[in-house]
Amino acid sequence: MKNLVLLGFMGSGKTTIGRLAAAELGLRFVDMDQWIEQRVGMSVADIFAQRGESAFRDLEAGAVGELALQPNLVIATGGGVVLRASNIATLARTGVLVHLRVNAETATLRTQGKTHRPLLQGEDAAGRIRALLAERQPLYDAIPHSVESVGHSPDEITRDVIRIYQTEG
Ligand code: S3P
Repeated sequence: MKNLVLLGFMGSGKTTIGRLAAAELGLRFVDMDQWIEQRVGMSVADIFAQRGESAFRDLEAGAVGELALQPNLVIATGGGVVLRASNIATLARTGVLVHLRVNAETATLRTQGKTHRPLLQGEDAAGRIRALLAERQPLYDAIPHSVESVGHSPDEITRDVIRIYQTEG
């Protein structure tokens, strides 16, 4: 079976929907950030703080390479995985890629009060989310399949994602 790969901005619901879809499809769920944290023995926040974002992006590309070699996975990627085109090409070789759409307002609400995302700490998280999302929007829009995550229940979103996976997989 091809992998099901969920992409989208922070707060788009990749982990929630990934878990539900994996349970429904009988596939193994992998959260890429957690996979990196286990591999390195550091939290994503500590990797950013101590080694910098570009070191994290290298680890992320390594995770993409390893996970794309395995079958039968539902992979929740980190929101920045689209920043390297090679990540997308690699994931697409063995997986069906689905973008979970979210707007800046909803992403702000969903990520508020959470401390594990280094790019959203400090002043004006809402402004940072608007800027980052605008910058990345063309990259997310280039993913061939997408499902709207705003205004739909997790079960509805999961059903739509599974339908795409079963048609394309
Ligand atoms: C990031 C998203 C995070 C995590 C890191 C950077 C990003 O994952 O990989 O904090 O650049 O969008 P989630 O999308 O799971 O929050």
